[in-house]
Amino acid sequence: MTAELEALRNQAEAELQKAGTEEDLQTVRTRYLGRKGLLTALLRNIGNVPPEEKPQFGKRCNEIKEELSARIDQALAGLASSRRDEVLLRERIDVTLPGRGTRPGRVHPVTQVREEICRIFSGLGFSVVEGPEVELDYYNFEALNIPKNHPARDMQDTFYIDENIVLRTHTSPVQVRIMEKTRPPVRILSPGRVYRRDSDISHTPMFHQIEGLLVDRGVTFGDLKGVLTAFLKQVFGDQTVLRFRPSFFPFTEPSAEVDIQCVICRGQGCRVCGQSGWLEILGSGMVDPEVFKNVGYDPEEFTGFAFGLGLERIAMLKFGITDIRLFFENDLRFLEQF
Ligand code: PHE
Repeated sequence: MTAELEALRNQAEAELQKAGTEEDLQTVRTRYLGRKGLLTALLRNIGNVPPEEKPQFGKRCNEIKEELSARIDQALAGLASSRRDEVLLRERIDVTLPGRGTRPGRVHPVTQVREEICRIFSGLGFSVVEGPEVELDYYNFEALNIPKNHPARDMQDTFYIDENIVLRTHTSPVQVRIMEKTRPPVRILSPGRVYRRDSDISHTPMFHQIEGLLVDRGVTFGDLKGVLTAFLKQVFGDQTVLRFRPSFFPFTEPSAEVDIQCVICRGQGCRVCGQSGWLEILGSGMVDPEVFKNVGYDPEEFTGFAFGLGLERIAMLKFGITDIRLFFENDLRFLEQF
């Protein structure tokens, strides 16, 4: 029995030497130390050992079991650690390599101008509101005192969806929508996209406008001049020279277009201002009583002024851009300059 035990030990030892994988090691463990293992079986047969040898045999048996078990644990740990080393080596990161570099985006020039104008008017107590781009003919025209077949409709080449629905040609319909659901005082600013059938170096079928509206008791043309003067001086600088020129819009009376002295030639006359020395910046006027009637305001009680301007035009003048189409081509060489 004792000889058998030592033979079994040597056999297990030899198998352990050959075991190269975790699986091999587990197999050896089960074969010798498992519940039905060879060593376990031998120990179960201790009854066949002569009584005087029993203590010695049992002791040796346990020694071998412990030794074997420890050897297997050790080999398993060795395997795990060399696997870890291998992974660490394979996944090594060279922290001295240069980074990939981020390419920060820029705020689009039209957005910059919109944000600046919204900021200036927020300071004057205006709040920013929006309205739909697909608009009812009623809001885009009728309620603004431009009935069907009115010649003023020719001023704005309209995209019609159907007889009663258009792509809004200006941001003025937002005035009407807001006045319909609020009582004065009203102080709003409405930026957004507008659409006209027009395309050349200074026109794109889609462009951006900002509409402003102030209604209260006792608002005068003097207020209009004061607010727009303060606004344009903030945008184009304190020294900016302004001119209010009589004009016509169906929804304002009286109406005025506001020009600034040409920022390129300082009034001398150049290509940008068409030799006139002046640049047209915005349309404005006192809200026509007809518009007030359409939204249920009493024109005897309230007066107000409105204005509208094109954002691309302002951005072109501010940044010296000569072709409006550049704004929409998304050429990074252009956009990265802002
Ligand atoms: N909506 C006018 C346009 O697009 C501009 C404007 C707005 C004029 C408000 C007067 C008052 O031409």
